[in-house]
Amino acid sequence: MLTLPLLLCIAGLANAQLTPSPIFTPPPADAGTTPAPQQTVPNQQWSNLLGDLLYFYEAQRSGQLPDDNRVSWRNSSGLQDGSDVGLDLSGGYYDAGDYIKASYPLSWVLTSVCWGATVFGQGYDLANQTAYLDEMLRWGLDWLIEAHPDNSTFFVQVGDDTIDNNYWGGDQDIPTPRPSYQVKDTNPGTDATAQASAAFSSCAFLYAGGILNSTSSATAPSGIENKTYANTLLRHAVGLWELSVNASGGMDVYQDAVPAVGDAYPSSGYGDDLTLAALFMALATSSSSAYQQALLYYSKYKLSGSNAVLNWDSKIPAVYTLFTELALARPAWAGAANLTGWRSEAERWMDGVVSGGKGGAYMTGGGLLYYPGDSDSASLNPALNAAMALTHYAPIASTSDKTSAYLDFATSQLNYTLGDNPMSAVYVVGINPNSPNRVHSAMASGGDNINAIDTDPDGPDLHVLYGAVVGGPDKDDKFWNIRSDYIQSEPALDYAAPLLTLAAFAVMNNPTDPYFTALQAGAYSPPSGHPCDDSWACHSGLSEGGKIALGVVISVVGIAFLLCIVWFVWRMRKR
Ligand SMILES: *[C@@H]1O[C@H](CO)[C@@H](O)[C@H](O)[C@H]1NC(C)=O
Ligand SMILES: *[C@@H]1O[C@H](CO)[C@@H](O)[C@H](O)[C@H]1NC(C)=O
Ligand SMILES: *[C@@H]1O[C@H](CO)[C@@H](O)[C@H](O)[C@H]1NC(C)=O
Ligand SMILES: *[C@@H]1O[C@H](CO)[C@@H](O)[C@H](O)[C@H]1NC(C)=O
Ligand SMILES: *[C@@H]1O[C@H](CO)[C@@H](O)[C@H](O)[C@H]1NC(C)=O
Ligand SMILES: *[C@@H]1O[C@H](CO)[C@@H](O)[C@H](O)[C@H]1NC(C)=O
Ligand SMILES: *[C@@H]1O[C@H](CO)[C@@H](O)[C@H](O)[C@H]1NC(C)=O
Ligand SMILES: *[C@@H]1O[C@H](CO)[C@@H](O)[C@H](O)[C@H]1NC(C)=O
Repeated sequence: MLTLPLLLCIAGLANAQLTPSPIFTPPPADAGTTPAPQQTVPNQQWSNLLGDLLYFYEAQRSGQLPDDNRVSWRNSSGLQDGSDVGLDLSGGYYDAGDYIKASYPLSWVLTSVCWGATVFGQGYDLANQTAYLDEMLRWGLDWLIEAHPDNSTFFVQVGDDTIDNNYWGGDQDIPTPRPSYQVKDTNPGTDATAQASAAFSSCAFLYAGGILNSTSSATAPSGIENKTYANTLLRHAVGLWELSVNASGGMDVYQDAVPAVGDAYPSSGYGDDLTLAALFMALATSSSSAYQQALLYYSKYKLSGSNAVLNWDSKIPAVYTLFTELALARPAWAGAANLTGWRSEAERWMDGVVSGGKGGAYMTGGGLLYYPGDSDSASLNPALNAAMALTHYAPIASTSDKTSAYLDFATSQLNYTLGDNPMSAVYVVGINPNSPNRVHSAMASGGDNINAIDTDPDGPDLHVLYGAVVGGPDKDDKFWNIRSDYIQSEPALDYAAPLLTLAAFAVMNNPTDPYFTALQAGAYSPPSGHPCDDSWACHSGLSEGGKIALGVVISVVGIAFLLCIVWFVWRMRKR
């Protein structure tokens, strides 16, 4: 008689290892305009930010939602995912404002969050968010486990962009078919399998209770340790690692194996993924041979001397940071003798960033680190990832001057994101009245008319997507808060991810309020006109006004040139 309720209860708790206490519900945006009751560690406003960020991932869930789901307006969805290949690929996360599930960027998200929690895990404890961290990680990792059904197969995407991009609406009418795309031993996607291996090994290390912190008082997030789960994760990490390095089809970028992923997340190479995966494998298994492998890839793929951006596709700066962290934390096998070498490599990159950007990067007028190309499609993401790397690295820098310069710069990018920018916009949804409220999220907007994304509904989104980080402003620091503008206004799993580590660090270290508490309702108002980005019809880089002006100039110059020739010919004739 008790079996059914018991089964339901177990089903409802399937994802939970810890019981959240107290239950966290995001406070209304207005709560972000007042100082925390106490300016002490932990500061309630920073704790709320961390809580909101984790809540965003709950709102992005695909699959059968458990009983303790906090996002009342979400429904179970995508339950047939994987049926085209005879597998259960339900679960996991919707990647952004649509309904695609993408393994490659998700794997980087999980890697960076687990990595951050092995250094700044106490931040989650102090904010009472460790249970939600566990749920957030497991919801992603459990799906990656499904996506790796055997050691020669890994699923990189569920859903098709061309089908999905023609749909705008809620989670009950998601268009089908939802094809499942895989890379295989014979048709490899080295970047995707290596990055997934890194996600599994970094999180295996976290769930084994590991800490990557040389400070003696450091501890893992309390209660997250689970050796059973850590071993499961490690098995998948090793299987994917072997698939990455020993595939019978050799090595290749995953969009060559699966052209359909080329629309959304094509990868520029796999050398960085292989090196990162080898480093986290070394950490999770205390293996000096994996560490040697990382060194080999590091030199084979010429990762030294780079000023590359840090994001879902480009991980070289994370490699520098992790090499240095390991040299300190694992001196026995990680070549502490070469701490100086890794420090100079890492600090070359960090110094380039804090001096205002190297490798084409620069600071916008309003103070955002901007990488032309990468930042054009999501301006906050490269800056926040750089801030995350600086925050990891600052405590282990070679001089205290560098420590403070790196932390200062990281804080400046965090402050920018939280409202210290020319728009006074707060780019985390729902944390302040000046946060975006017309987010490019089909499920949160409440609209279902793809031809009227901005006007249906004609006002704020029906549901507040608390904790979502949007793409961000343009290179002139302008932000329009226009729902159809997916460049500026779309949320994504990887946009919020670096902020988790930054917020955990702030909860641990910063007694004073985040920047947004100083901003009252009305501080932000959208500029006039339209943004000029890929979402709008100005691909040439000129606005409509600019095109007209250029046309006038060309006509005037042309007419003057013709008159000049006529005059010249006339003069010649006269002679
Ligand atoms: C550890 O994780 C496993 C696998 O997810 C789970 O079945 C088990 O209940 C967890 N143990 C504890 C003590 O939470
Ligand atoms: C965490 O929970 C404890 C006990 O319920 C409570 O006293 C404390 O204020 C909470 N801290 C935060 C930051 O929410
Ligand atoms: C969830 O289902 C309800 C009832 O069918 C529906 O009204 C709501 O719009 C759905 N939520 C989303 C995000 O589509
Ligand atoms: C390690 O933990 C300590 C104490 O919890 C903390 O102050 C420090 O910022 C952490 N990070 C590093 C890299 O030491
Ligand atoms: C995949 O490979 C790993 C590591 O070699 C192994 O532990 C695991 O059992 C393999 N999984 C399957 C399903 O064969
Ligand atoms: C790859 O294959 C070689 C040759 O069979 C083997 O020696 C090596 O251990 C394999 N590497 C991994 C990571 O499985
Ligand atoms: C020391 O580290 C640097 C990276 O800065 C690397 O290029 C060099 O080969 C390393 N030397 C040794 C002996 O490992
Ligand atoms: C960031 O904002 C805080 C809160 O307003 C302020 O105290 C701090 O000086 C700012 N730091 C930087 C580097 O901008």
